[in-house]
Amino acid sequence: MEFRINDRYNKLYLIVIGLLMHITLRQLEVFEAVARHLSFTRAAAELHLTQPAVSMQIKQLEGSVGLPLFEPLGKKIALTEAGRDVYEYSRGITQQLGELEGMVNRLKGLSGGRLKISVASTANYFIPNLLGTFTQRYPKVTVSLDVTNRETLLKQLMENSVELVIMGQPPAELELDAVRFKTNPLVVVAPPNHSLAHEHRIPLERLQDEVFLVREPGSGTRMAMERFFTERHIRIQTGMEVGSNEAIKQSVQAGLGLGLLSRDTLELELRLNRLVILDIAEFPILRHWFVVQRKGKRLSPVAEAFKTFVVSEAEGLTDTAAR
Ligand code: PGA
Repeated sequence: MEFRINDRYNKLYLIVIGLLMHITLRQLEVFEAVARHLSFTRAAAELHLTQPAVSMQIKQLEGSVGLPLFEPLGKKIALTEAGRDVYEYSRGITQQLGELEGMVNRLKGLSGGRLKISVASTANYFIPNLLGTFTQRYPKVTVSLDVTNRETLLKQLMENSVELVIMGQPPAELELDAVRFKTNPLVVVAPPNHSLAHEHRIPLERLQDEVFLVREPGSGTRMAMERFFTERHIRIQTGMEVGSNEAIKQSVQAGLGLGLLSRDTLELELRLNRLVILDIAEFPILRHWFVVQRKGKRLSPVAEAFKTFVVSEAEGLTDTAAR
């Protein structure tokens, strides 16, 4: 018998079979995350679980299905054929659960709904403060916050697995609504004893002699950096690839290279004189923060209230464009 994903009855049939096979929604949720990231580690981080807990859920699911769902592919993992089929269904099911949650939130209004947002890792330096004020204003609202990079945020929006996202400017070709609310200046940092630390208006060409530490592919900061240097025909040397803003700052302090980061991430290091911003011609690179949703998506009252709140509070956030 052939199942088609959009066929409601077949889907229901599969859920019933799943229940008979003791598949739990939690297993499907965990499986969906591992399959989307093709990584147990990243799925564990997203779901705030340990890696053994994730492996256990997958093992139980494989036990119920009776077939392996993942196979090793070099150092990575890939979905098996059965895994690909289960992924299609589990995506449908988790999306429907998200819609069900949205509907329940709409019914609850602001007196007990859940705010589910995802933010760019770089935005995580100011978002918790905003969330603090927001939850004081609406104490019955619970918040689920996912912190990840730009590429994953776009994927979450397209999969409709999140209501609102805080990120840098989204690509124009995607069906998204984006409201700009705050500047995001990108600067170059060095340890205080670096030879360029006391120079002024350093020409861009001088950067070609330096090694830059770069964020992982999929990072908005990295994308902006590459675009900026390419447009100006500056060929920088890239050193280590580093998967987070915090790790970049540590590596720059350790003298492993220069870093290009959002000014928003640097409050502490600048205050403690652990890093300095280099005075480079044409810098900072001026980006902006946006609150983004799928075009036409009906937001829950909680998400609607948060969006209005972010945009109105933005003026109160310290504008870090000035050095
Ligand atoms: P990032 O996002 O944390 O993925 O670099 C920041 C941005 O989009 O500017």
